Amino acid sequence: MKAFASRIFLAACLLLLASVAASAQVLPPLSLWKNDKGSLLTLVPLGGTSVGGVFTNFARGFGCQGIPYPVAGTVLPNGAITFQVNFTGCNTVTTWRGRVMGRRMPTRWILIYNGRRMTGADLFTMQ
Ligand code: BTN
Repeated sequence: MKAFASRIFLAACLLLLASVAASAQVLPPLSLWKNDKGSLLTLVPLGGTSVGGVFTNFARGFGCQGIPYPVAGTVLPNGAITFQVNFTGCNTVTTWRGRVMGRRMPTRWILIYNGRRMTGADLFTMQ
């Protein structure tokens, strides 16, 4: 019985280690992404689930183009990612939710501009 319990314990430890290793591999220490609208995003894991970076908007029809803004968000070991940018020069806050899948990251976003809400999707590709 004791041997069985210690095997279960060992298996649990291995599972834990595997999930820690997996979370470390979701994002490299620094990654550059471009979305289907030409906007650029750098992501930097900050420890735990936190992620930071910089977003520069180049999407046609939107404001605040070519200006780098800070990114704050989280990424989970399963690749689920959420990040937010406050475009202070445009009174806009955008929140993206998606999943890191290797070098691709499909996302959906919600943009709030002066109390108005707009939604869409961005597909990011790691450069
Ligand atoms: C604004 O126009 O009010 C600020 C810039 C918003 C840019 C949006 S965020 C979602 C979408 N994806 C992009 O790459 N740019 C637009």
